[in-house]
Amino acid sequence: MGNGNDQAASLRNMQSDENKKFDMQSKKAISCISVASGKGGVGKTFISVNLAIAFGLMNRRVLLVDADLGLANADIILGVHPEYSMQDAIFKGKSLTEITVRTEYGIDLISASSGSREMVSMGAARMGIFIKDLISFASEYDVLIFDCAAGIDSNVTSFIAAAPQCAIIANPQPTSIMDVYALSKLIHQDNLTENTGLIVNMVSDDNEGMKVARTLNFVSERYLSKSMELLGVIPYSPNVERAMHSRKPMIIKYEDDIVSDRIKKTAKGILQRQTALTSIGNINTDKLVNGFLNI
Ligand SMILES: Nc1ncnc2c1ncn2[C@@H]1O[C@H](COP(=O)(O)OP(=O)(O)OP(=O)(O)O)[C@@H](O)[C@H]1O
Ligand SMILES: [Mg+2]
Repeated sequence: MGNGNDQAASLRNMQSDENKKFDMQSKKAISCISVASGKGGVGKTFISVNLAIAFGLMNRRVLLVDADLGLANADIILGVHPEYSMQDAIFKGKSLTEITVRTEYGIDLISASSGSREMVSMGAARMGIFIKDLISFASEYDVLIFDCAAGIDSNVTSFIAAAPQCAIIANPQPTSIMDVYALSKLIHQDNLTENTGLIVNMVSDDNEGMKVARTLNFVSERYLSKSMELLGVIPYSPNVERAMHSRKPMIIKYEDDIVSDRIKKTAKGILQRQTALTSIGNINTDKLVNGFLNI
């Protein structure tokens, strides 16, 4: 056993090791993407999960966070049964490692159990600690994806504000197009995030997808003075439903389907553009706290 001086010195070393670790973590580069939409049921969860796997196939370590606190269902698409959720980490002292589900597709999932709006009742300070832990835990990964709830509630916009890249999902229906415009207007007016891109999903053919993209880009340039970058066009495919029933992700079960091909191309494009790239220390944890607390 050492004397008092030795102990003080080793404590100092430990502290400086911790500081070094923290500095390294906060500088760690990571791609952080929020997946959002104005209208519900347009394919956010489907695209989040399959994009996550596509990044995984490109040898990226991916953490998918189910940020839809009302209806969590990324686990269903991934065919996993999480034993614990975020609530267990916040209220029951479970560690982030314990609540993270490893999937056979090489990506990890943190789920929020359905009906978790009770989290709202917890204090911001406690949530703040959890979020800081979550982000420092995310430094082990290359890509962090938030699968958001539909709409423009403040909890959704908080997740968008925390990530440098937002992927807005649109469908060809006029109501979806209107809702995408409403969401992107809010994003630009409140300066929520630097990069807002569009993924048009469930199109009958590329012409339809390009038409939606052109319309949205036109109104965005005209009324928001900002162009809306197209991240991907994904057709409708009956195989999506089949994959869902088999509890296997689309891009694994039907790897030759055009939908799978497009999702992989979209993932590749996002990494190439580098617009989602940030450092761990730049992820807006305060905004995330608001998102989880629904304020
Ligand atoms: N390209 C596609 N082709 C066929 N079906 C699709 C496609 N994309 C999504 N779907 C189906 O559409 C439905 C809604 O998808 P999903 O749950 O991902 O939407 P969401 O935007 O996450 O919904 P919510 O707003 O409720 O969170 C699901 O049944 C899904 O399998
Ligand atoms: Mg969803």
